[in-house]
Amino acid sequence: MRIGVDLGGTNIAVGLVDEEGRIVARGSRPTKPERGYEAIAKDIADIALELIKRSNLSVSDIKSMGIGVPGVADSEKGIVIRAVNLFWIKIPLAKEMRKYIDLPIYMDNDANVAALAEAVYGAGKGSKSSVIITLGTGVGSGFILDGKIYNGAHHFAPELGHIVIGDNGIRCNCGKIGCLETYASATALIREGKKAAEKNPDTLILKFANGDINSITAKNVIDAAKQYDEQAMRIFNDYVKYLAIGIVNVINMFDPEVIILGGGVANAGDFLIKPLKKEVAENILFKELPYADIRKAELGNDAGIIGAAILS
Ligand code: BGC
Repeated sequence: MRIGVDLGGTNIAVGLVDEEGRIVARGSRPTKPERGYEAIAKDIADIALELIKRSNLSVSDIKSMGIGVPGVADSEKGIVIRAVNLFWIKIPLAKEMRKYIDLPIYMDNDANVAALAEAVYGAGKGSKSSVIITLGTGVGSGFILDGKIYNGAHHFAPELGHIVIGDNGIRCNCGKIGCLETYASATALIREGKKAAEKNPDTLILKFANGDINSITAKNVIDAAKQYDEQAMRIFNDYVKYLAIGIVNVINMFDPEVIILGGGVANAGDFLIKPLKKEVAENILFKELPYADIRKAELGNDAGIIGAAILS
């Protein structure tokens, strides 16, 4: 048994994972990044210890804890080097965790671990090279080559969420303007949904959020687009257009066999993937060559936990 932790910008999800990659017990809490890392580390440990107890196990039955962090991590040093959506710089997360739980602790980027889980158990199984793009609070990415995470010479590859693809005037949490993340994250759909609802209160987006502009979700925007709501369709079409630009860039960079879409927005399934494939096809560089198959992640939200658990 191993512990896998999916530390997201919005939620902390912890799972107990068996040797076949199955999650046998799980728990979660909101991240609330403003609390600082000490409280977050304690929450992770509390949930893990509770799961161990609930499963009638003890810490000595657990081989390791793996943590997928929403940023750049140095697993050997046990440090989160940078996590833009948690506002973390050089955080000694492993040391803090060990105050509460005595286990070997491994860390990697959240999307890298999701990519690993999909490559071993999910949509990337059987492929030699795959890229995952996770569409959540941020836009994450992971590159798997020959069954292994490729994270570059300095731990941060790939950071596709921060490739600059335009000039929408929106400042990313990383400090730059025009990052893919400001166009293609769930946060982007929420931001645009709110703007549209302010100007057009009769939009279905607002109706689906029960009239409360502050509780608009990415799903509200997608559901309204499915119902042909004009505002939502405009937002969603732009979303697809910019995500396709990002994907064409990824294809030009890596030429992977498979591109896997994960994160909450990917739950839109074919409603997203069909128009996206069309847009990519129209903008692909080498029209005469085959290129990556674009697929929805198979493990859904579980990829983060499973991939983190199999880190070593
Ligand atoms: C971070 C990535 C992370 C992604 C998803 C981005 O803003 O830079 O490291 O994988 O968000 O959490």
